[in-house]
Amino acid sequence: MTSQQRTKATAAGVYDWYLNGHHHLPCDAEVAIAAQKVFPLAGQVARYNREFLQRAVRWMIQQGIRQFLDIGSGYPVAGNVHEIAQGYASGTRVVYVDLDPDTVRVSNELLADDPNAICLRGDAREPEDIFARATLLDFAKPVGLLLVSVLPFVPGDVVPLVRRYVERLAPGSYLGLTHITLTEDEQARRRQSEVTQTYNANVQQNVTTRSPEEVLELFDGTELVPPGLVHATHWNAPRGYLPAPDDQASAVLLGGVGRVR
Ligand SMILES: C[S@@+](CC[C@H](N)C(=O)[O-])C[C@H]1O[C@@H](n2cnc3c(N)ncnc32)[C@H](O)[C@@H]1O
Repeated sequence: MTSQQRTKATAAGVYDWYLNGHHHLPCDAEVAIAAQKVFPLAGQVARYNREFLQRAVRWMIQQGIRQFLDIGSGYPVAGNVHEIAQGYASGTRVVYVDLDPDTVRVSNELLADDPNAICLRGDAREPEDIFARATLLDFAKPVGLLLVSVLPFVPGDVVPLVRRYVERLAPGSYLGLTHITLTEDEQARRRQSEVTQTYNANVQQNVTTRSPEEVLELFDGTELVPPGLVHATHWNAPRGYLPAPDDQASAVLLGGVGRVR
């Protein structure tokens, strides 16, 4: 199905709208706006998430990582993984994976002239299939695995799933991820629950929120690098950048990077 035939919002389309991208449809915009009416900071959460992704990629490049596996990559928007990584280290190889066929089509149009980057249609729940098809990458060497805001779209116990990825990665690889969590502020929490209900009623992929303890468990088999699992805004934040302590957009998004042992 091409994007033009779709009438129900997708996670990728709603996220693209929040990031001022060019690939969403009116049905995505409608859900994004409705969600913002309930939780006005929804767009800010998307921007914080994207900024974490970009900082994590830069940091992994500084650690010597030259190949990335980005699962649940979404539509290309400014500052994609391959642009950042190759900007620092040309020749860095990137395999993007997404379940949404339209994001894969659009990504591969953008990547047509880049022999070092490709987007595969794949399901995060099937790591073995992804490893078998990500032949651009050499899994005998360290890889930067990015599971940035994709696990909220996978229901159930995702700890064993992430473990299956980590076990296949060479020592010295990194796992970077973000995850939505519930804020401690009661009023914001109510609005957050309401917005999750609106989202899940109208978007093809439902969102699951996990507690900080559950998110921490996802790093089993890795060693969390400083500053550990924190609000994504606080992970390697540039000096003077930190949001206010009562910023509820910052409070709902956790981020961290673990080094594979
Ligand atoms: C919120 S976007 C995140 C995009 C990107 N990772 C980022 O952080 O900027 C979530 C993406 O995950 C994709 N997705 C959802 N479930 C998936 C699954 N089971 N396997 C692969 N991708 C999935 C959606 O299609 C969407 O593009």
